[in-house]
Amino acid sequence: MPLFADRTELIGTENAFKIGPCIREVEATGQRVLKCNLGEPDFPLPMHIREEIKRQIDNDLTHYCDPQGIVPLREAVASHINATRGLDVSPDQVVIFPGAKPPIGLCQQTYCNPGDEVIYPSPGFPIYESFTTYIKAKPIPLHLEEELGFSFRAEDLKKLINRRTKLIFLNFPSNPTGGVASARLLGEIAEVIEACAPPNVRVYSDEVYEHILFDGHRHQSIATLLPQKTIIVSGVSKSYSWTGGRIGWAIFPTVEEASIFKNLNINYFSCIPAYNQMGAKVAIESPESVVSIRQMVTAFEERRDVVVKALGGIPGIRCQQPKGAFYVFPQIGGMCENLGAIEAMTSLPETVRRKTSPSTLVQMFLLYRYALATMDRKSFGRIGADNKHYLRISIATSMDDLRLAMERLREVAGDRQGFAQFVREGNHLW
Ligand SMILES: Cc1ncc(COP(=O)(O)O)c(C=O)c1O
Repeated sequence: MPLFADRTELIGTENAFKIGPCIREVEATGQRVLKCNLGEPDFPLPMHIREEIKRQIDNDLTHYCDPQGIVPLREAVASHINATRGLDVSPDQVVIFPGAKPPIGLCQQTYCNPGDEVIYPSPGFPIYESFTTYIKAKPIPLHLEEELGFSFRAEDLKKLINRRTKLIFLNFPSNPTGGVASARLLGEIAEVIEACAPPNVRVYSDEVYEHILFDGHRHQSIATLLPQKTIIVSGVSKSYSWTGGRIGWAIFPTVEEASIFKNLNINYFSCIPAYNQMGAKVAIESPESVVSIRQMVTAFEERRDVVVKALGGIPGIRCQQPKGAFYVFPQIGGMCENLGAIEAMTSLPETVRRKTSPSTLVQMFLLYRYALATMDRKSFGRIGADNKHYLRISIATSMDDLRLAMERLREVAGDRQGFAQFVREGNHLW
């Protein structure tokens, strides 16, 4: 009898975490790695939130609390959602989770039976695809198109919807592309879902980057158009530079649905630390947060401009201007070609070829030879990612490091010999 259940084989991962030991390996050789792989803002937790958490620990908010989330935080979330999305949700529709990630898998478990279909953006946050296979639902990638600013056409979505469609994941602003849907596209998506999807479909709107928008854009949510079908998800990790707080929330279309997730919380975590939840309430409500978000977004926007311009000058790379989040997602097809990465794939044994890709080879070459950590294309959805050559570069790192990163990338682009040697050595090919 095997040690592990069969389903253990089916779950994927988030490579941004998995690449950590590789970075440490390079650092152990004495090199400073430029970390453009990270999905967390490089700013400190704002002081007013920090002070509130400490105050609440001193207030003894250190015990079990409401498994659905404490009422003051659920009230703050509901008010924020109502004010920004034009809705009328009650705190009873809100459930607090340990981050914005857990509701992804919990929603898949709750809404999908094996064989039901889950539509999700690709490239997209890898956990959407990872959990779909784990629960034996059918993954249906909705491929985002570079030419459309990493968006899609409503008719592309329409083609994927059928009577087994149970969940449709949307993520604007998007990880890893920084794409944002226009109001018009959101309207068209809503129309297609109303017209073609089964009545019990749920739209999972991952809005974790809701505050990180550039060029004066304002966040818009599909929930405004489809309130009866949309689950809105967000949290503190990105908006308040508080990835370690592990506070996220989902707003469900009905109280009945929220109560199912409350029970899952009871089963899985019991509850989330109440002192952090009070910190999150202050984060949502304090005018000081508006200031700290503005400072952070301004810094990201300046970095984006510098990085996109620099990438545009590197042979074999072309890069869209992201509209939000804190990533750029350059197309590196020409660079893969120039380095011989596409050719190199054909010389690799089948067992290696299955695990790698041209952009993975470039990613590993960058890390192990040039101490620059990035993420490859297949870290953001594997199905249908073959022959798509992209890298995700996080701009949540200092401007000085980003300038250095661009210099290293330019050097790499011309190092065909070094690349060939790296592949020949064959130590770090995936
Ligand atoms: C699109 C998206 N959703 C969810 C999450 C998870 O966020 P959290 O840290 O709150 O769990 C991330 C984190 O990178 C993300 O990019």
